[in-house]
Amino acid sequence: TSNLPVYTLEEVTKHCSLESGVWVTYKGGVYDITEFVAMHPGGDKILLAAGGALEPYWALYAVHQQDHVLEILSEYKIGVL
Ligand code: HEM
Repeated sequence: TSNLPVYTLEEVTKHCSLESGVWVTYKGGVYDITEFVAMHPGGDKILLAAGGALEPYWALYAVHQQDHVLEILSEYKIGVL
């Protein structure tokens, strides 16, 4: 269980740029990664997922299948779908 707010996909899709904030989803969680974009080891590619799901991109870039990557992501959780 969590006390985090529930967001709709529509709300997530509005956060698709650095100006509006960059939100992504992963396994039912919603993450505001705006502050992480500039720190991403893979550079601006991270913005391809802005406003949507990480899964298709992380399936392509298997470098993300590591515990330390999920630990970074968890710091940015703001809600659930
Ligand atoms: C590398 C985090 C989204 C593309 C990495 C690494 C981290 C990271 C920690 C370094 C991993 C390592 O070498 O051990 C994240 C997080 C994301 C995210 C937290 C979302 C919140 C994306 C997306 C893409 C992407 C959406 C592509 C569309 C890459 C690429 C690298 C990379 C290409 C390899 C960079 C290199 O070693 O030259 N990412 N990533 N990432 N990421 Fe991401």
